[in-house]
Amino acid sequence: MEQQDSNSTNPPFHPSFARVLNQKQQIKEKLSNIKHKIGIYSAKGGVGKTTVAVNLAYSLKEMGFRVGLLDADVDTPNVAMFLGMHGMHEVAYPLVPVDRHGVKILSTAMFIDESTKPIIWRGPMVAKMITEFFDNATWGDLDYLILDLPPGSSDAPLSIMQLLEMDGFILVTTPQHIAAVNAIRAGRMIKRMGISILGVVENMSQGEPKGAQEVAKELGCEVLGTITHDNKFSALSDSGIVPVMVDHALKVQFTSIAERIAD
Ligand SMILES: Nc1ncnc2c1ncn2[C@@H]1O[C@H](COP(=O)(O)OP(=O)(O)OP(=O)(O)O)[C@@H](O)[C@H]1O
Ligand SMILES: [Mg+2]
Repeated sequence: MEQQDSNSTNPPFHPSFARVLNQKQQIKEKLSNIKHKIGIYSAKGGVGKTTVAVNLAYSLKEMGFRVGLLDADVDTPNVAMFLGMHGMHEVAYPLVPVDRHGVKILSTAMFIDESTKPIIWRGPMVAKMITEFFDNATWGDLDYLILDLPPGSSDAPLSIMQLLEMDGFILVTTPQHIAAVNAIRAGRMIKRMGISILGVVENMSQGEPKGAQEVAKELGCEVLGTITHDNKFSALSDSGIVPVMVDHALKVQFTSIAERIAD
């Protein structure tokens, strides 16, 4: 059999592989000032991923941490709306996350002039945009970067899992069995990508965690806490107000989860 020449100038990988690996290394170096990167995720839509991401980010900030919040829902960016950031266009390049009440925010919503304008992109464009958020953005020093993921298990979640060295993901479910099943689906994807599941949060909870217990049992992860179903969440978010910044009872629920994350 032909021996591999140890002095060969051939790269150990095909050039295409090498490029992808280099990109991951490049992003790792660019994000070296960010201590922890945590994704908020479920394969199911509408369970409260953005609500959890926003309120967790501001709870961590209230605890004294330096926090960034990335809207990784590239084509349906809602984070900026939850924060009342209409018309705050980001024109700088490389991208400069915008400071909103002490948290650094980046979202494709900042690149368009109307909140209802559709962003009609195929997967490769979404993946490129995700890369921009890390490769060409000046996040600076952060203790936590919280990533609000879209539902599904394709383009944006996959790009994030492949490109970043994540600390882990927090799964979001509701008490409903269908929501739990889709959180489990997301959890299996995370595990298959070799990333940690930090735990599961039950949102829109009615009391004892039901969906979260189902997820925790199936994936062998922790229940990090429950967030009650409360119409104040939608009313405040529609007004661009962060619930944990104005409502003590809601803050207590999120702070307990944030403390477990920080521990
Ligand atoms: N605990 C709660 N109690 C009541 N309403 C809530 C609660 N959490 C979220 N909501 C509302 O439910 C809706 C969906 O929440 P959110 O947008 O956070 O979900 P999502 O999982 O991010 O959705 P998507 O998959 O579309 O990104 C919003 O109108 C939000 O205000
Ligand atoms: Mg969302």
